[in-house]
Amino acid sequence: MQQIADSLKVDLIIADPPYNIGYEYDIYNDNRPDEEYLDWTYRWISAAHRLLKDDGSIWIAIGDEYAAEVKYIAQRKVGLHLRNWVIWYYTFGVSCQDKFCRSHTHLLYFVKDPKSFKFRAERIRVPSARRLVYDDARTNPAGRVPDNTWILRPQDIPNCFQPIEDTWYFARVAGTFRERAKFMQCQLPEKLLARIILSCSDPGDIVFDPFVGSGSSLVVAKKLGRRWFGCELSPNYARHAQQRLDLAQVGDPLEGPDDPLLSSPSTPCYLNIEGPNQRQGDYDEQLLIQCFLSVNDGFSVDRLLADPVLSVRFIDACSQAGLPGRPVDWNLALLRLRKQKELRSGCTKRTRLPRQDLEPILFGAEIALRKLLDQGYPSLDYILADPAASIRFDDLARRLAPGRPTWHYRWAALHLRKRAHSKLPSILNAYQEANTILSGNLVLLEPGIESAINEEPSLYYVVQKPGARREPIVVYIGASKYIKPTVVNLVKSRDHLAALCRRPGDLFVKLVPAGSKMSNRELEAFRYAEVQRLRPELNYLAKQSP
Ligand SMILES: C[S@@+](CC[C@H](N)C(=O)[O-])C[C@H]1O[C@@H](n2cnc3c(N)ncnc32)[C@H](O)[C@@H]1O
Repeated sequence: MQQIADSLKVDLIIADPPYNIGYEYDIYNDNRPDEEYLDWTYRWISAAHRLLKDDGSIWIAIGDEYAAEVKYIAQRKVGLHLRNWVIWYYTFGVSCQDKFCRSHTHLLYFVKDPKSFKFRAERIRVPSARRLVYDDARTNPAGRVPDNTWILRPQDIPNCFQPIEDTWYFARVAGTFRERAKFMQCQLPEKLLARIILSCSDPGDIVFDPFVGSGSSLVVAKKLGRRWFGCELSPNYARHAQQRLDLAQVGDPLEGPDDPLLSSPSTPCYLNIEGPNQRQGDYDEQLLIQCFLSVNDGFSVDRLLADPVLSVRFIDACSQAGLPGRPVDWNLALLRLRKQKELRSGCTKRTRLPRQDLEPILFGAEIALRKLLDQGYPSLDYILADPAASIRFDDLARRLAPGRPTWHYRWAALHLRKRAHSKLPSILNAYQEANTILSGNLVLLEPGIESAINEEPSLYYVVQKPGARREPIVVYIGASKYIKPTVVNLVKSRDHLAALCRRPGDLFVKLVPAGSKMSNRELEAFRYAEVQRLRPELNYLAKQSP
C-alpha cells in the first residue's frame, strides 16, 4: 500500500486481515505478540486511510480477540468514523463444551467523512418475508451448548436477519465445505461481500482488498462491474486468486445460496422431496400426469427433466392447465409420481447415450454435481427439478467439458447416480496398484500430452501438488474406455478444475491402464472402490456410502 501513488484513490476497501489467532497460513505468521500485531494494525489502517477517496468507505472483518482494539485504532488513532458494527452470524460454529460457542465475526464499517459517503440502501433491501430455519436434529442436536449469538427460535421472529439490519446471517463457507479447513477456512462468502459492495460502491468504482487470500472480494467486485485490485503476501494464494478472477466475468451469478436460511446445507427444507416442498394436496395429480403425457414424446420423466426442450414444453403445459405452484413444484411432483403405472406405460422410448459420447464428459457432470451438492443443493433430483439450479449445473459442466448438448451433461449425472446405487462386481483384490498410486508417472496437465496416450480402458487420477511443503493429493478419480478424448477435455479445462479445488496448485494426471478385456462394469467397480478409499474432493461418488 505504501508503494501506491497518492494520485490513486479508491472508493471502497474490504479488509479481512489475519486475526492473530494462530491460523496456519502458508507464509504469514499469525501468532505475534500483542504490541507487534497492534502496531502493524495501526500501520495498515493508516495506509488504507490514505488510499481512500474523501467519500470512501472501509469495512474491516475481525474476530472477538481484537475487535475492540481495531475499532479503537481506526477511530481514535487513524480518524475513521464508525457507521456500523455488524455482526455476521453464521451458525455451525466450532462446538465448545465449557462455554458458549462462537458463531459470529465482526464487520466494522467506517467512512472517511461522516457527512459524505455512499450508502445505497435500495440495492440491498429485499421485500420478501423470510422462511426461517427448520428444526433439524442433525444440525442442532438436543444438548448442544448454545452459540454466543442468542436468538431464541428464529422461527418465532419472522422478520429477523433483514439485510438492512446489523446482524447478518450468511452461511460460513467453511461450514458448507467442511473440507476447506486447510486452505482459506476464513474465506468470506460471496453473498456477504456483495451486500457490502452493492451498498457502498457504484458500478465502475474501485474496490481494493489489502488481504486478498482466495480472492473472494475481488471476484465479487468483478462480477458486480466494479474495478478492483488487491495485495496478497503469499504468491501461492495470489496465483489461486488470479485463477478465480480470470474465470469470473461481469454479470456472473454470485456463489452461495440465494436465501441462506432456506438453503444452508443439511437443513431439511428441501433435503427430501417428500419434505416441506411437498404440496401434494395442491395438485390435481391426474392433471399433472396428463400434462406430462401430452408432451413427453414417449420418453421417461428423467429424460424429460434432462432435456431442456421437453422440460419447457412440460412447464408450458402445466402453466396452461392452471396448476398451482412454480415450475420447481411441478417438476418435484412429477418426480414423486415417477413410479406410477400410468406414467410408466406412457414411457415407450429408451434414452441411449453411447459410451464414447458419455465418458469424455462424465468428469464435467460429476464435478458440477459435486459442487452444487457442496453448495447446499440437496440432491440431483432437486437440481434437475429447479430450473435455476439446473442452469448452474449445465453451465459448470459445460465449462469443464465443453461442446455437448445440455441433456448429455444431465444424463451423465443421472448415469452416475444409477451406478452409485447399483451393485458392482467386487474385484478389488485384483487391484494391486492402489496403494502406490501417487508414486511416479504424474504427467502435468498441459496441451499435447494426449499424443503419448494409448487408447485403452484406464483409471485416471487427477492429482494436485499444492506446493513444495505439502503432499500431492488426489482431487478426482475417473475411468474411461475413451481415455484420449477424456484427457483432451481435462487439459482444456485445467484452469477451471484448478479454480474449483480447495487449495491452489498445479494439476497432474496419472493413468492406470486396466487391461483391454475389462468390462464397463468392472472398470466402474475399480473406480468406485478407489473413490471410496481416497474420497477425492471433486468426486460426487465420494459423497455416496460404499
Ligand atoms: C483472513 S485471510 C483473507 C481471506 C480472504 N478474505 C478470502 O475470502 O479468501 C488474510 C490474508 O492476508 C494475507 N496477508 C497477511 N499479511 C499480509 C500483508 N502484509 N500483505 C498482504 N497480504 C497479507 C494472508 O496471506 C492471507 O491470505
